[in-house]
Amino acid sequence: MAALSLTHVTISFGSRPVLSDISMQIEAGQFVGVLGPNGAGKSTLMQAILGLVRPEAGAIQVLGRAATRGNAGIGYVPQSRSAATRLRLRGWDLVAGASNGRRWGLPILSRAARRDVDRVLDTVGATDLAHRPVCELSGGQRQRLLIAQALLGRPRLLLLDEPLISLDPQHQRSVVELAARIRREAGITVLFSAHDLNPLLGAVDQVLYLGRGHAALGTVADVVTGPVLTRLYGVPIEVLRIEDRIFVLSGRIEVERGAHVHDA
Ligand SMILES: Nc1ncnc2c1ncn2[C@@H]1O[C@H](COP(=O)(O)OP(=O)(O)O)[C@@H](O)[C@H]1O
Ligand SMILES: [Mg+2]
Repeated sequence: MAALSLTHVTISFGSRPVLSDISMQIEAGQFVGVLGPNGAGKSTLMQAILGLVRPEAGAIQVLGRAATRGNAGIGYVPQSRSAATRLRLRGWDLVAGASNGRRWGLPILSRAARRDVDRVLDTVGATDLAHRPVCELSGGQRQRLLIAQALLGRPRLLLLDEPLISLDPQHQRSVVELAARIRREAGITVLFSAHDLNPLLGAVDQVLYLGRGHAALGTVADVVTGPVLTRLYGVPIEVLRIEDRIFVLSGRIEVERGAHVHDA
């Protein structure tokens, strides 16, 4: 069964389509890097998979049924989550806040729900963070807790929206390795968006590039080429491979190097 299937999907805000007549299938158990310039529609695609944004045309099937809100088969770490950085909550409470369907409440959890919180903390290697205040943790440690939270209830599809933003290269590597390990051990499908391909190289099975309404899904070798990316970026793109890094260039400008802000 495909984990995700899009059939002629068009999504617009106002008159401009963000995704235009996209059809594709992602098989269960794949680790897919979702790439493309700012505004390409990476977050919109995830919200459509979650049933939070409705396509104006086409159909989205998630884990064998039509995309709908509240699909317990999906775990999600949204792109913007700076609120967590100011909280005096302990790590355990941050993770637990999502069970029970309530985010920042103080739920009284059943024994099974508490066990699930302990389990996901163990899965992401964050048991030692359970009793530490979230505001004292590094960006990488907080990211680990948010991924743990997304694993409550054992989802079959994990959506991680730009989890590398504001992490330094070492923490980026550890988050990518964590996602790869979750995929391997739990056999779940992972969609992981990023604006730079390099941290994902060697970990992902496939990449899904979005740009100008179009999508290209396939292996890095198939998709990360001058002709494919030229179509998606709408400007001539050259792809350079130097040792184990890939540089996506427009003229002499590297288009995938965002302005990174590192906060450890
Ligand atoms: N709720 C919304 N209302 C109007 N426009 C939106 C909304 N969400 C996203 N957009 C627009 O859709 C485009 C794609 O955004 P987004 O999915 O956030 O891109 P990405 O995640 O790839 O950076 C952008 O032009 C953005 O401004
Ligand atoms: Mg986004």
